[in-house]
Amino acid sequence: MNEMIKEAINVLKENDRGGYTVPTSRLYPFQWNWDSGFTAMGLWHFNKWRAWLEIISLLDAQWENGMIPHIVFRQSDPDYFPGPDIWHSNNEPPTSCVSQPPVLATIVWQMVEKGTPYDSRKAKEIFSRLMASHRWFMESRDPVNDGVIATVHPWETGRDNCPDWDLGLSNVEVPEELETYIRRDTTHVETEQRPTQQEYDKYMAIVHFGKKVGWDNDTIYREGPFLMADPGIQFILLRATKDLLQLAKLLKLEAEFDEIQQWINKLTQGSQWLWNDIVGGFCARDIRTGEFSDGITNASMLCFYANVGNAEQKEKMRAHCERILDKCNYGFPSWDPEHKSFDKIRYWRGPVWLVMNYMIGKGLLECGFDKLAYRIMNDTKMLVDNAGMAEYFDPMEGSPLGGRNFSWTAAIYLEMCSADVSEDTINRV
Ligand code: GLC
Repeated sequence: MNEMIKEAINVLKENDRGGYTVPTSRLYPFQWNWDSGFTAMGLWHFNKWRAWLEIISLLDAQWENGMIPHIVFRQSDPDYFPGPDIWHSNNEPPTSCVSQPPVLATIVWQMVEKGTPYDSRKAKEIFSRLMASHRWFMESRDPVNDGVIATVHPWETGRDNCPDWDLGLSNVEVPEELETYIRRDTTHVETEQRPTQQEYDKYMAIVHFGKKVGWDNDTIYREGPFLMADPGIQFILLRATKDLLQLAKLLKLEAEFDEIQQWINKLTQGSQWLWNDIVGGFCARDIRTGEFSDGITNASMLCFYANVGNAEQKEKMRAHCERILDKCNYGFPSWDPEHKSFDKIRYWRGPVWLVMNYMIGKGLLECGFDKLAYRIMNDTKMLVDNAGMAEYFDPMEGSPLGGRNFSWTAAIYLEMCSADVSEDTINRV
């Protein structure tokens, strides 16, 4: 077995806090939503029981209204900001009060499709939880029912400081009564690899508003400081909804077919609202003003993963994909390297993130763009082989950035090398 596979398994074991896995110690000491989804996918290759536990522990924090929160605070940690006392979620376990890209149904479906009767049994236990979380997205994040899913905070998109959000954030006022606070992230990671102070103040201003209105989704949609549509959430939700339908069919839950199919139709239709004619690609858009972001991101490239777009749109996206890969040594960057806002080391303004690469590669393969898919998948493996399990990577130098010993990076590596990981590997590491 390759040494890196052993290391990936070690990273996941070391980040295990007993039933759930942290993204990495110190910088992110709690359970994160989509991190846990991808982590389960990696764990599944050497311990199926533990993989399901990862998902079940995340769902344990699901809100009554169906929302799966983006962070679950299972213990206090003064080394992290903003913690539970800032969010005021008022539930047990305490959580943050926005969600994250809904990858869970896709991951569950994948585990069932590749798996054993045990996996089907587990999926049956949690199916209704997945339904509730999709219903929450369709109702709370699209109350006007036009198939365009809103995001109310850049943190909900999982691509925190992407230039996409500069547009929506430019309208966010930082209120005078905003409590003073001390960031913790910049004590763990170089300042130039993290969001700026000005961005952080705006993130906190949105949290301040949510808290003031008791996290009422209707008020937040109508009056909140930030309301944008994210190709990442839109395409990931559409893909996950298609996978949810597959799961419902396998489990013979006929009563659910119609509702899920309607969500698929709505989301497919709504996705067209994200097509930016000037850029010739899918872009983020401000829901209030209709203004488009003007950059192609790794989230734009998820159109293949959701199988969205007509032949002409797909061809334009394929061409963007090739052009951007030609500009980097390691794909796929989180922002277009030919755009003025590109910054190769600052978080979501340029660096490569493995979970995005994984989804892009999968989508390209499914749509028949094998050469591009393999190119991205090879870059992904090479980044880890040369630089280890970093949080994100420089697309030009391939150097590791952000936190180290990162769970989702390890999980993606395991998924990509899955043919070499055997059931009893865990006992040998
Ligand atoms: C950062 C990322 C987010 C991720 C979290 C934990 O906030 O932007 O996507 O879930 O870290 O890894």
